[in-house]
Amino acid sequence: MIRVPVNLGARSYEVLVGAGARHRLLEVLPTGVQRAAVVTQESVGVAVDPGVEHRVFLMDEGEEAKSLETVEDLCRGFARWGLTRADVVVAVGGGVVTDTAGFAAAAYHRGVPVVHVATTLLAQVDAAIGGKTGVNLPEGKNLVGAFWQPVAVLCDTEVLTTLPPREYASGLGEMAKYSFLGAQGLEDLPLDERVARCVEIKAAVVAGDERESGRRATLNYGHTLAHALETAGGHDLRHGEAVAIGLVFAARLAQRLGRIDQERVAEHERVVAGYGLPSRLPAGADHERLIELMARDKKALDGLTFVLDGPGGVEVVSDVPRADVEAALAAMEEDTMAESS
Ligand code: GLY
Repeated sequence: MIRVPVNLGARSYEVLVGAGARHRLLEVLPTGVQRAAVVTQESVGVAVDPGVEHRVFLMDEGEEAKSLETVEDLCRGFARWGLTRADVVVAVGGGVVTDTAGFAAAAYHRGVPVVHVATTLLAQVDAAIGGKTGVNLPEGKNLVGAFWQPVAVLCDTEVLTTLPPREYASGLGEMAKYSFLGAQGLEDLPLDERVARCVEIKAAVVAGDERESGRRATLNYGHTLAHALETAGGHDLRHGEAVAIGLVFAARLAQRLGRIDQERVAEHERVVAGYGLPSRLPAGADHERLIELMARDKKALDGLTFVLDGPGGVEVVSDVPRADVEAALAAMEEDTMAESS
């Protein structure tokens, strides 16, 4: 088992990565815990044994379940069962479960401990690490939430073998991102070490900027266009697939702005293609709409704002001229057309 510390002073915790990590649950529960509320979805199909009295609380399926209504249902269920602050919530699933159950844990009794048992690649390398919890509103994704660090995260790589291929691919998109955030040679590592390396990078970033006042925003590399594509809808893209396209777009844009050269753009294309992920804009993408959505991004306090590669590495860049964004999108579309002709 690989153990990665997330150093946050009194709120520090460990992420355990490896085959069978889910069986370490009892070991990581806070001392004295009497009961565990296990929150999961039927489709997750991963059973855990907390080793203390427990009850399973099932959430509905899909991203739609990541809602305030689910948080209310969970909290009411916890209350009826008599869960106290001395107990624990155990979230078993992908990002939808860890985000929602994490937020319910943050809010219930003004905060009960939570352990994440991450069962998707995406949750293992991103969503379950770092304490961002929250739910969607009809007006947008992740608009209500809290920073609530788990007391431990278990990343069981054994359960990844049963993930549907596109769900796995979605995690690879987040993994590809880490290749540009300091994880050289990631592709050559065995899976456990690869997941652990991503966790290490995320842990270091979170330890330095827990509340995202600076460097943490770099974890959103590739996400500005990805979120716009997801919000625009109409494209059959999983989150990580959209991130893969977003990474290549960000590289194109950085090149236009003179921040990186063609070789570095090609490296983005190589990494993304190496994971079998898409790098082209989906057919029929509406550029105007995408730019409008990108301008509404949470980072965009100051004009069009992107996370871009450059001589000093990946960083947040504000006030990017609209003409360059338009040109980078147009260049992506030309590539798409050239490939399909
Ligand atoms: N998923 C980005 C972050 O946790 O900051």
